[in-house]
Amino acid sequence: MITPQPSVTSESPCLGWGILSTGRIAGVFARDLPGSHLGQLVAVGSRSAESAERFAGEHGIDPEHAHGSIEALLSDDAVDAVYVASPHPMHCAGVVAALRAGKHVLCEKPIAMSLAELEAMQTAARENSRTLMEAWMYRCHPQTKRLVELVRDGSIGELRHIQGTFSFAATYDPAGRLWNKALGGGGILDVGGYPLSYARLLAGAAQGRGFADPVTLAGVGVLHPESGVDTQASAVLQFAGGVTAAITCGTLAHQENVVRIYGTKGWVLVPSPYIVRRDAGPTELHLYRGDHATPEIITVSADRGTYAYEADAFAAAVQSGAAEVPECTRADSHGNLGGQLEWCRQLGLNYV
Ligand SMILES: NC(=O)c1ccc[n+]([C@@H]2O[C@H](COP(=O)([O-])OP(=O)(O)OC[C@H]3O[C@@H](n4cnc5c(N)ncnc54)[C@H](OP(=O)(O)O)[C@@H]3O)[C@@H](O)[C@H]2O)c1
Repeated sequence: MITPQPSVTSESPCLGWGILSTGRIAGVFARDLPGSHLGQLVAVGSRSAESAERFAGEHGIDPEHAHGSIEALLSDDAVDAVYVASPHPMHCAGVVAALRAGKHVLCEKPIAMSLAELEAMQTAARENSRTLMEAWMYRCHPQTKRLVELVRDGSIGELRHIQGTFSFAATYDPAGRLWNKALGGGGILDVGGYPLSYARLLAGAAQGRGFADPVTLAGVGVLHPESGVDTQASAVLQFAGGVTAAITCGTLAHQENVVRIYGTKGWVLVPSPYIVRRDAGPTELHLYRGDHATPEIITVSADRGTYAYEADAFAAAVQSGAAEVPECTRADSHGNLGGQLEWCRQLGLNYV
């Protein structure tokens, strides 16, 4: 443990974070972390000392805690928890090593490339009595919690259908993480898991549970002619209780990246469902009651950015000694990963 920052009270000790990898999302997480109430960034680990030093300089990390290897990061006593932000195929090795070194772990999504890898990670968490969470950051934001309440309290009647999309236009780069199959490339594993996990969350809320797994999932999509990874994909899902979902993802076209949920007495538009917002400030849910054309705007206030909420949900679980974080439990991760891999499989895309 490290000395708490002024914002952290003596009753809530500060979790010392080490970030593994210095890529894009590692930088986003580091920029949001100062908004956290329960943690602070203390170290970084990279495959190269130069990258670690650069990242440390950019994010105010003491140069003594800029490490040029995972081993050095995991030997750093200031690090209580490791945020794993490497490409998906490197998650398993990094997570298992961190758990065995006695660190708690928040791992980027998708947490693994196979259910066997996920089982090895969850076994390591159990054997070392450490907390492990898959980083679905939107689950931790107050906006998502309010949406779940709307489903549970019957504001839209009985939930019937969920629509969700996450698709953006990227430029083809055969060596890049998004396109290279060996680096876990493809849209489903990059962004398709968002609408999928969102649908599972809300279908579960309709049943008074934390999540639900679909009874059926039927996927279609397009694979890149050279790299073989998916560039565009959709799936329809059926859940118990008469709830269906239609989800879409892609890497070649920007789409309207919103979620809509429909019930017997109204519907809700979620204009910013996934990243929500990176800074503190209000967000909006648009509730259409009955067949009204004009929505009731539900404003949800937030005093941190989405990734700071995620860090704090994780830190709260660590503080309470919980093995799991309620926002994404082990069984929930299993269902999210299983669903994404099944969706890929139906397109003829297999990674292992
Ligand atoms: N939650 C979110 O909002 C969000 C957003 C984007 C991505 N993600 C997830 O975060 C993970 C990383 O995504 P990213 O966009 O940050 O990727 P990225 O920009 O390509 O960075 C990945 C980093 O991983 C390290 N790495 C280790 N082995 C590597 C290898 N063989 N090839 C390339 N890099 C390697 C590198 O850091 P070093 O050189 O320092 O070792 C690299 O900078 C993915 O699993 C992705 O799905 C989550």
